[in-house]
Amino acid sequence: MKRLVINTLEKKSKIHKELQGHFSEHLGRCIYEGLYVGENNTEIPNVNGMRSDVVEALKAIRIPVLRWPGGCFADEYHWQDGIGPKESRKRMINTHWGGVVEDNSFGTHEFMELCDQLGCEAYINANVGSGSVREMSEWVEYMTFEGLSPMSQLREKNGRKEAWHPAFLGVGNENWGCGGNMTPEYYANEFRQYSTYCRTYDPGFPLYKIACGPNAGDYQWMERLCRVLSPLEASLRSGLLRGISLHYYTVPGDFEHKKSATDFDVETYYETLHKAYYMEELIRRHGTIMDQFDPEKKIGLIIDEWGSWYEVEPGTNPGFLYQQNTMRDAMIAGITLNIFNQYSDRVRMANIAQLVNVLQSVILTDGRRMIKTPTYHVFDLFKEHQENTLLGSYLENEMIGAGEWRIPELSQSASQSADGSLVITLVNVSDSRDEEIRILPVEYRASSASGRIVSGEIHEKNSFEDTDAVCVRAMDETQLVLYPDGAAAVKLPACSAAEIILRK
Ligand code: AHR
Repeated sequence: MKRLVINTLEKKSKIHKELQGHFSEHLGRCIYEGLYVGENNTEIPNVNGMRSDVVEALKAIRIPVLRWPGGCFADEYHWQDGIGPKESRKRMINTHWGGVVEDNSFGTHEFMELCDQLGCEAYINANVGSGSVREMSEWVEYMTFEGLSPMSQLREKNGRKEAWHPAFLGVGNENWGCGGNMTPEYYANEFRQYSTYCRTYDPGFPLYKIACGPNAGDYQWMERLCRVLSPLEASLRSGLLRGISLHYYTVPGDFEHKKSATDFDVETYYETLHKAYYMEELIRRHGTIMDQFDPEKKIGLIIDEWGSWYEVEPGTNPGFLYQQNTMRDAMIAGITLNIFNQYSDRVRMANIAQLVNVLQSVILTDGRRMIKTPTYHVFDLFKEHQENTLLGSYLENEMIGAGEWRIPELSQSASQSADGSLVITLVNVSDSRDEEIRILPVEYRASSASGRIVSGEIHEKNSFEDTDAVCVRAMDETQLVLYPDGAAAVKLPACSAAEIILRK
């Protein structure tokens, strides 16, 4: 039996709810069909065009924030094309994603309506690559200005009198690549200018502005960006900058030789999880650079794209990035969300890519039908951490793997909620070995314990024919035991993720 010590005296950072955020792009069937089916759709139940089954499922995992409209699409998106009467909205070609016609029927009003229905924060990612300072500035004015102005009048003309309050604003996306192929210095100077004209009109709702940070291990980009935006303290004070993004995808093989989402051997399983664990090194090393410019960690690291990226499902449009999701993805999600919790002193938000029908989705749809993926169920297990205080936790662990890929067998994080209860998430990534863990809270005598678990063989998945092959189950007394001294013991089967809650 391995031991997990949780030190309730070691109170660390706040786990912002946005660490469990999501991302939706005009890509494949994410927006159209996955989220929005049109106001006049009589086939798929919807409210104002937003499909009700998906909204309900996302509310159940307490989706905290949604990023939109891209991704690479963001730097080709002109927001004025997506407002006003639908029949007169401009059509465009979605050049990045399948070359399909984008009819702009889902625009700012529809996105804000979706966020309202979900009860989540809005994260708008605006266009630097092919936009202008004026275009971005006017979008902010359109959404957030309450008084009389050209943009607020236009908003009212389009049916919305009150301002919205999107919490987050991304100033460009991947400007080192699809967002304009810029150098860090060039982008950083552009950022300063764009950001200046994106006003916070209501001091009660300060815009959290995010600069485009690096791709994975591009430490040069982070360093050079911070240098131009320095002193970061001054940028923060003037409202120019509050966060810097980081994108990292887990890709077994590589982008040129992607592998199947469902057909993989044990060695590829460990390769994938090894690559998922790389997230920790990225956060640590980018964090070390940020520390030099911002030692008090006031600027957030915003991991607004992460997740697995495989070969598309056979027979689907390669530009739509549609992939299935197995227990391997559940393990990626569990490992990664534990890492975000452990580094919540620096990581302020993270957005898995993407919400529905694209890459590591929590939901897949097929016409009227919808399934929750194994990744969805892991988000369900982690939701009790939202807004809690991270606690120090120490776990006996072992390295396991196959071939050249060695990774820690177990992963964990623990937090304390406002009502004092302890929330613990544990992941056992082993493909074959069950584990038993003794949980030893310091200065905490629990009088009740409950647990929920997701487990399965590494390839297990949900499908439209078998929607609940993988699901969350409550633990019984054979799986979770509470001892009179307040310690607990939990059985974690191979390839499982669990949530344990201890209460006084
Ligand atoms: O999520 C898919 C794409 O991956 C995004 O559009 C882009 O930002 C990233 O390269």
